[in-house]
Amino acid sequence: MQAIQVGLLGIGTVGSGVFHVLQRNQDEISRRAGRGIEIRMVAARNVARAQSVVGAQVQVVADARAVIAHPGIDIVVELIGGCGIAKALVLEAIAAGKHVVTANKALLAVHGTEIFAAASARGVMVAFEAAVAGGIPIIKALREGLTANRIQSIAGIVNGTTNFILSEMRDKGLDFDRVLREAQRLGYAEADPSFDIEGVDAAHKLTLMSAIAFGIPVQFDKAHVEGITRLSAIDIRYAEQLGYRIKLLGITKRVDEGVELRVHPSLVPAKRLIANVEGAMNAVVVQGDAVGTTLYYGKGAGSEPTASAVIADLVDITRLHTADPEHRVPHLAFQPHTLSDAMD
Ligand code: HSE
Repeated sequence: MQAIQVGLLGIGTVGSGVFHVLQRNQDEISRRAGRGIEIRMVAARNVARAQSVVGAQVQVVADARAVIAHPGIDIVVELIGGCGIAKALVLEAIAAGKHVVTANKALLAVHGTEIFAAASARGVMVAFEAAVAGGIPIIKALREGLTANRIQSIAGIVNGTTNFILSEMRDKGLDFDRVLREAQRLGYAEADPSFDIEGVDAAHKLTLMSAIAFGIPVQFDKAHVEGITRLSAIDIRYAEQLGYRIKLLGITKRVDEGVELRVHPSLVPAKRLIANVEGAMNAVVVQGDAVGTTLYYGKGAGSEPTASAVIADLVDITRLHTADPEHRVPHLAFQPHTLSDAMD
């Protein structure tokens, strides 16, 4: 059977990770997907640089719309980021009947309701495992592994940049700006790092997890968001003396009035597992009524961890396309419904 054909929009840190992991693990990935997965086209601003990443066999173009319009492309992977051109391109891909895989948490947290409705109407999938907690398969855990549960709460560290900054400030006494620059160099930070340090990126991710867990619409604007910019080295030291670590936590849970969504620096007792999550690592604790407490830990940012999540979505969609019924998985399209009007 012919390999499923993928078009990448953007080939920066994550896109090049997707290309390399697909190449390196192609046998395992094809076996699990039921057929091959091939990057056929790439859209990039710097065509020459992108061509040097993917080699001569893959067509690289400057115009993302050429990728979407190409009749051979089955899945469009959006790795541009942000809510500008990325939104228009995702909606165009859906309208063209292409499945979409994206790592774009900002886009989905702000415009998810419109995008998921468009995908549902067109009968295509929008998959976004890479949008939350990098390589940790938390979206699949919430949707599949924990699907029997009434979820009570989700709490976690879902921004690697801020966790890296807090860890380095505490362990090495380094100053905020220097560690932020290092996080940017390592490819953890967003294009606009204020999204990381102001808690916005964590709130985008929390909004998506909350929508899945509680069946509510994606409503980033309802979240309380506070970042780490007002913390200083002395806060971190005092917390330590009192037996605590400061962590930027995202918390969402059921309350009497509906669902609470908040991101803010928190004092966590030093003995707790989550207090010991260091560097750019992420950790998410989910409580369900049947399963009890579960913990998910792993790399929350970076090229190959995020690529791992993008490729997991490519495999899911490819299974749906395969003619072999043994490899089919249930349709996992996102269909939020309103849990309660109390959020309005
Ligand atoms: N800027 C994000 C972080 C990247 O630091 O976690 C992964 O979403």
